[in-house]
Amino acid sequence: MTSHEASSTPTVSITEAPPNVTVLLQTPQLIALYTIIRDIKTQRADFVFYSNRIIRILVEEGLNHLPVQATSVSTPTDLTYKGLKFEGKICGVSIMRAGESMEQGLRDCCRSVRIGKILIQRDEETAEAKLFYEKLPEDIKDRYVLLLDPMLATGGSAIMAVDVLIAKGVPVERILFLNLISSPEGIDVFAKKFPKLKVITGFIDEGLNEQKFVVPGLGDFGDSWS
Ligand code: PRP
Repeated sequence: MTSHEASSTPTVSITEAPPNVTVLLQTPQLIALYTIIRDIKTQRADFVFYSNRIIRILVEEGLNHLPVQATSVSTPTDLTYKGLKFEGKICGVSIMRAGESMEQGLRDCCRSVRIGKILIQRDEETAEAKLFYEKLPEDIKDRYVLLLDPMLATGGSAIMAVDVLIAKGVPVERILFLNLISSPEGIDVFAKKFPKLKVITGFIDEGLNEQKFVVPGLGDFGDSWS
């Protein structure tokens, strides 16, 4: 088989999803990045480097979903350029631990961005999410929130995190969830529970196994990262 043939039939994401879900364009570059981070033989340094590349693409796509307003600037050729500027304040919120891996990618695109944290851990026996801790910007209700977690399995952790944000007064339509890999059942439950929230995911996988891990997935993202 030639390399061209080999690359012509990669496994790509499921694209059927609720209307508030955007799946990243399944380009050869993106699939190649996912191939590296899913490979059990990939060493940590490469896992971090290539995950960061996907995170950067997710953040860039996420920023496309924030509101903009018209603005004009004068160029050095003494002409006017009619452009756009972002409207409103943003912040990031990571679902610890694994979500912290996405903070730098957000900082690389949004200078001095405020970042809050919510520690939610799945019970290893029942896979149920438990909330341990949160530390969020005081004025979070006035901001657009980019919620960060690389993995979405049952959806329990993401739902719990959104409930925390709502309890802090954040309007659900100002929340954008950025995620690397999700299960079809998890993303369906999550996106339908919060139809006004937007989800940007890189990949919707085949499903969940008996331990409620995403498959084929990549195992425990937090373990591979740290
Ligand atoms: C993993 C993952 C998500 C969650 C997804 O975190 O990072 O937060 O599970 O599962 P769910 O959709 O079924 O809730 P985990 O609780 O294992 O903690 P970690 O980030 O410390 O690995």
